[in-house]
Amino acid sequence: MKLKIRPIAFDDIEAVAALWKSCGLTVSYNDPQADIALAMASPASEIFVGEQEGRVVASTLAGSDGHRGWLYYVAVDPALQGGGYGKALIAHAEAWLMGRGINKVMLLIRPTNTKVKAFYERLGYREEERSLLTRWLRGGPDSDIDPAKHAEIETTVTYLEMTERPTRPSVPAPAMRLSLQRAEMPTVSFYRYLYNTIGAPWAWVSKRLESDADIKAVIQDDDVDIYVLSVAGVPAGMVQLDRREFQVVDIAYFGLMPDFIGHGLGKYLLNWGIDQAWESNPARVTVNTCDLDHPRALPLYQKCGFRPIRREVVSLAHPHLFGLEVPAHRR
Ligand SMILES: CC(C)(COP(=O)(O)OP(=O)(O)OC[C@H]1O[C@@H](n2cnc3c(N)ncnc32)[C@H](O)[C@@H]1OP(=O)(O)O)[C@@H](O)C(=O)NCCC(=O)NCCS
Repeated sequence: MKLKIRPIAFDDIEAVAALWKSCGLTVSYNDPQADIALAMASPASEIFVGEQEGRVVASTLAGSDGHRGWLYYVAVDPALQGGGYGKALIAHAEAWLMGRGINKVMLLIRPTNTKVKAFYERLGYREEERSLLTRWLRGGPDSDIDPAKHAEIETTVTYLEMTERPTRPSVPAPAMRLSLQRAEMPTVSFYRYLYNTIGAPWAWVSKRLESDADIKAVIQDDDVDIYVLSVAGVPAGMVQLDRREFQVVDIAYFGLMPDFIGHGLGKYLLNWGIDQAWESNPARVTVNTCDLDHPRALPLYQKCGFRPIRREVVSLAHPHLFGLEVPAHRR
């Protein structure tokens, strides 16, 4: 049966990790989920999966280091090995690497994996005399760092609420050519652009792990409103109001694009968002912020009338899995 080869999607992560395990490719010092997240986040790598009747039965991770191409995690479901799937998948990954200007592909075979060498030789791969030198920068077989734990970062989340509409006069708009518009049927790509760009300095990662279908279900919900602030036609920030809980409006996301921080837009946009939230006469307006966010976020929320009601320590996917830095104030 023909194999359908395509890039990995968020919904495949568990199946791919299970496949690697069933093929004996996982070791204690590599966390498959973290390896998958890192490869998915990198523009220079791609995980290809082979699908048969809707089931993931094969995979390979291809990456370019800017000079050579590399293959990792070449795997075919043990029950389907010997049917040409490994060969097809490697041909696909090689074509992808060639399309990126790569002329030579390399891979590593663990010495314990004796029988696989003949497979690669069959496909034209040759052993070359080189010394392989490596050094673990973090983790590794002799380390007591748990790779799964290292894929996470702890953060304290503060939940705030406001139970009365603020009585202050409306906050004047900074003297710029501003427009505030509700994105009526936001596309997932536009939303990811807003979320990823605004959140990059603050390690916003949770939506990066969500599938397109899950994101779409929220952003196109009638009870979720996404407002985009633009300066002379250029997106500068967003406020996401979520009314899905009865009598509550949650300011689910609020933030500015990095280029627009420091011009007085944040205070304006937040107060505008608060006024907008109260338009539907909820019993309370809520917001939360974590200690990875801009250090001025929490005091700004309090100044605008929010009161902290609860704190909680949670674990998030580590920003370095997405090529992001831990914000300087948390290092
Ligand atoms: C290695 C692996 C991906 C190969 O996939 P596969 O679907 O079984 O291989 P294919 O059916 O595509 O084989 C392609 C060719 O290699 C040959 N081949 C496959 N395995 C071979 C072996 N162990 N010895 C000799 N030849 C082999 C096949 O006969 C076929 O030859 P052909 O082109 O003349 O028909 C699969 O066996 C696997 O998942 N193994 C466990 C995980 C693993 O070791 N991965 C590699 C990590 S470096």
